[in-house]
Amino acid sequence: MRKALVAGNWKMHGRINQNINLIGDLVEQLSPIKESVSILVCPPLVYINQVGGLLSGTGINVGAQDVSRFEKDGAHTGDCSAEMLADMGVSYALVGHSERRSEYQETDAVVALKLKNLLQVGIKPILCVGESLEQRDAGLVEKVIADQILAAFSGLSVKELSNVVLAYEPIWAIGTGKTASPEQAQAVHAFIRQMLASGYGSEFSEQVTILYGGSVKAANADQLFSQPDIDGGLIGGAALVSEEFTAICRAAATSPKNG
Ligand code: PGA
Repeated sequence: MRKALVAGNWKMHGRINQNINLIGDLVEQLSPIKESVSILVCPPLVYINQVGGLLSGTGINVGAQDVSRFEKDGAHTGDCSAEMLADMGVSYALVGHSERRSEYQETDAVVALKLKNLLQVGIKPILCVGESLEQRDAGLVEKVIADQILAAFSGLSVKELSNVVLAYEPIWAIGTGKTASPEQAQAVHAFIRQMLASGYGSEFSEQVTILYGGSVKAANADQLFSQPDIDGGLIGGAALVSEEFTAICRAAATSPKNG
C-alpha cells in the first residue's frame, strides 16, 4: 500500500507574519490526521528556514519548489544547490513544474539534471509532468507524459529512482479552476504506472507515489483521491488557505485505499 502524500506549493506567496499565522493554523488543524497522510509545505526559498523552524517536531515536512541544475558550489548567481537544500533540512523538492518549464524555458535535459542532483543528496524529487490543452486536443497526452518522464529518468537505475515521486499536472488545470475529472486524471495515472512497469518493473511502478495537481480543492479532493492510482495531491492556490488545505489532507487521510 502507498501512503498518501499532500504537498502544498505556495509558489511566490508568503510574508514572515503571514507564514507564522498559516503554519500555526495548519499545525493545529492537521494534528488529528497527520499520522495517516504525509504532508509537505513548499514555501518560497527565502522562507524555507523560517517555515522549517515553525514545522520542526510537528511531523509536517518542508520542501523546496526548485533546485539548481548545477551540482557543485560555484559562480552561479541566484542559484541554490541540492546540497544546500539538504543542509537546511529539506526532504522533498519539486522539479519540472510547468511554470518553471514555461517561464524559464526549462528543458527536459535541465529537469533531468535537477532530479539527479536531488537524488544524490537524499532529497525526494517530485517530478511534475503534464500536457497543454493543445497537446490534449491533438491526442498527445500519453506521448508528452512518457517523453517527459523518460527524459528525466534517463541514465538512472531503478534503485536510484526509488525515492522519486511523480505529479501529473495538466497545464490547463493549473490555477484555472478547471480540474481534470477524476476519470481523466485516473486514466493518465494508470498510464504512467503501466509505462513505469514496462520500463522499470512492476515492483517499482506499484510503490511509486503519483500525485495529481491542478485546481485541487476541498470540494473535489475526495473524488480524485478515491481513484486507484491517485496517491495524493500537489496543491497550489488551496494550500494558502488553512481550512482548504486541511480538508484536502483529510480527504487523502480518510480515503478508503490509503495505506
Ligand atoms: P493550483 O496549482 O492548485 O493552484 O492549480 C497546482 C500547482 O501548480 O502545483
